[in-house]
Amino acid sequence: MPVTILIGAQWGDEGKGRYVDWLAASADIVARYAGGDNAGHTVAIEEDVYKLHLIPSGVFHDDVVSIMGNGMVVNPVNLVKEIKGLQAMGIEITPERLLISSRAHIITPAHIELDKAKELARGTKAIGTTLRGIGPAYLDKTGRAGIRTGDMLLDLETFAERLYEAIERTNETLVKQGMEKLNPQEAALEYLDAATFLKPFIVDTSIYLYKALKDGKKVVCEGAQGTLLDIDHGSYPYVTSSSPTAGGALTGLGVGPLDVEHVLGVAKSFSTRVGGGPMPTELEGDIADQLRGTGENFWDEFGTTTGRPRRCGWLDVVMLRYAVSVNGFSEMMLTKMDILSGIDELKLAVAYEVDGEQMEFPPVTNEQLERATAVYETLDGWQEDISGCRNFDELPAAAQAYVNRIAELCDVPINTISVGPERDQLVLRS
Ligand code: GDP
Ligand code: IMO
Ligand code: MG
Repeated sequence: MPVTILIGAQWGDEGKGRYVDWLAASADIVARYAGGDNAGHTVAIEEDVYKLHLIPSGVFHDDVVSIMGNGMVVNPVNLVKEIKGLQAMGIEITPERLLISSRAHIITPAHIELDKAKELARGTKAIGTTLRGIGPAYLDKTGRAGIRTGDMLLDLETFAERLYEAIERTNETLVKQGMEKLNPQEAALEYLDAATFLKPFIVDTSIYLYKALKDGKKVVCEGAQGTLLDIDHGSYPYVTSSSPTAGGALTGLGVGPLDVEHVLGVAKSFSTRVGGGPMPTELEGDIADQLRGTGENFWDEFGTTTGRPRRCGWLDVVMLRYAVSVNGFSEMMLTKMDILSGIDELKLAVAYEVDGEQMEFPPVTNEQLERATAVYETLDGWQEDISGCRNFDELPAAAQAYVNRIAELCDVPINTISVGPERDQLVLRS
């Protein structure tokens, strides 16, 4: 069973990119299955820091094929920019190394305008989207009104017609929201160049994967966003519009469940969230500032896609336990343990108290979640710099106890912990 699915266990930005890069060293294919350029995945390789939005994070390995699956929504203009940016940094991106599903949906300029308009209309209840047009594009997909990357394989005139029609359709909704219409021809200009550029990369990736799996190839499915942003399992409506959870990998790539061997959850060793919605362990003050960092380092908690400061708080085990339950993680991997050095006492939210009742799993409604107070367990912190540790036994006893307690509370093994953003800054349990 050659498929490994890697999923963010929290609200995104857990450090998925760095683990995908690590797993890609022993994989043949890395495939993104959901979301679009709302994602921002960071891979640090020596002096270079790469921020990927659409291209899978296995691209830095010469013999890995990257796939953008049918479950994604693609902004063709931003994709071309990303490809050219990577090429300029010396990364080879050719139609042999990057395959884009012909069934992925296209984000049009009108989707982006509509995303902005809807956020404005929500006022204080804004979701805090990345304004990349994600929600409106998925809405057109499920409403059976979208256009797909496969349409770019048609002759340019026909693709242009489809694109103009799609923009016109969204224009009607824009006008209802009190916004200006877009001129389809003007708005779509760059899209036509992008379509010409991308044509050779577009194929039926599900058939490609079917054949590759028959040939015994190893596939890593790269989750974007995180479990708590899932359209079904997240804190609706403060979620994204796709399925970042394990099931989404199957539908988002066209792969069957019997091929899946591992489901890996990536969790940051504290909580962060960017955008609106409840976050029961959110902190303000010195500890939050320490967790967030000042923004001077590329790994500080400021959005990779939007630059927004991320909300920070103690690790929320209630949410992690829930992520284990909806994804069926075979293992969890932690990130950013180095950031916890120097905090005297660490807290883990082991339950919520909602209306006088203790809960081990999060309540379903946001109203209840807003009223939830975290029940904390306090653990000793550690002062040592752990960024040079590579083996679990080298970690200070308090750091080992922190990891072991999370594994115990979530009932899932944790054998891999990162202690810095670089490729080799990984602690493994022997
Ligand atoms: P993703 O969206 O899940 O791929 O995560 P992001 O790239 O948005 O955010 C994670 C940030 O943490 C990036 O800047 C990574 O380089 C950084 N990072 C990942 N693992 C570690 C770690 O163990 N320690 C530190 N200090 N930074 C890390
Ligand atoms: P990666 O893959 C963190 C959040 C947005 C907002 C909500 C909806 O880097 O972990 P959208 O633009 O998707 O309609 O926004 O989801 N969001 C993310 N937060 N990491 C991400 O991706 C995110 N992608 C979307 O901030 O709250
Ligand atoms: Mg990110």
